Amino acid sequence: MSATARPGEDVVYGQVALRPLAKLSQDDWKVLYSFYRDREIAAWSSAKPIRIPLWLFRKMSLLEEASGDRFGFGIFLRETAQLIGGAELYDLGPAGASPPRFATLGIMIGRKELWSQHYGRAAVTALLLFAFVHLDPPLERVRLTTLQFNQRAQRAFLAAGFRVVGRDSPPRQPRLLMECTREEWNARHPPDPSSRAL
Ligand SMILES: CC(C)(COP(=O)(O)OP(=O)(O)OC[C@H]1O[C@@H](n2cnc3c(N)ncnc32)[C@H](O)[C@@H]1OP(=O)(O)O)[C@@H](O)C(=O)NCCC(=O)NCCS
Repeated sequence: MSATARPGEDVVYGQVALRPLAKLSQDDWKVLYSFYRDREIAAWSSAKPIRIPLWLFRKMSLLEEASGDRFGFGIFLRETAQLIGGAELYDLGPAGASPPRFATLGIMIGRKELWSQHYGRAAVTALLLFAFVHLDPPLERVRLTTLQFNQRAQRAFLAAGFRVVGRDSPPRQPRLLMECTREEWNARHPPDPSSRAL
């Protein structure tokens, strides 16, 4: 048995809504693609900008979703319905386990002019809400790695409930390992009656 999500439902927290990739419009895909092609955004995530064409990016992303190996979302502002970034849970594990018990979190706010306005922590919190409440059965743990110099990301992750659990040592670029468990989440978030679909 694999984990299932409430079908097609947006996950809402604070100022943002996470919309499943399968529900994105063609225009949304163009915007999301432009975020993944941006050098600066990729560098903050220790990644390279993607080089594949838009149609392939969309196809591969949707195939991964359909296989249950990843849960990907567009991040939308609730007030304006503007697409501002992307977030995902990937590396579901342990390998071969069904349903999965943990996953790795990835996030980017693609509109740089919106950085440091707390949309990041709202989106991370929404993704944890998805992992620990919407998924059936819920995950036990969500983890991530971030470059040590990416202090903006760390502040957003700490504010959303992650804690530092380790560090990667050189020769790799120094990174922090962070984690949030379902127990920790539940202690911080009693059921929220205002959480609803857009
Ligand atoms: C990381 C990211 C998702 C965070 O979202 P965000 O909306 O910018 O973050 P938030 O506003 O929630 O929190 C950022 C905090 O860091 C602070 N900050 C910004 N630049 C900083 C810096 N250079 N040093 C220390 N703190 C900094 C902000 O003032 C804010 O502080 P506060 O907690 O006192 O309000 C977003 O910035 C982003 O997409 N960055 C590019 C890609 C990336 O880094 N992805 C993560 C890879 S692990």
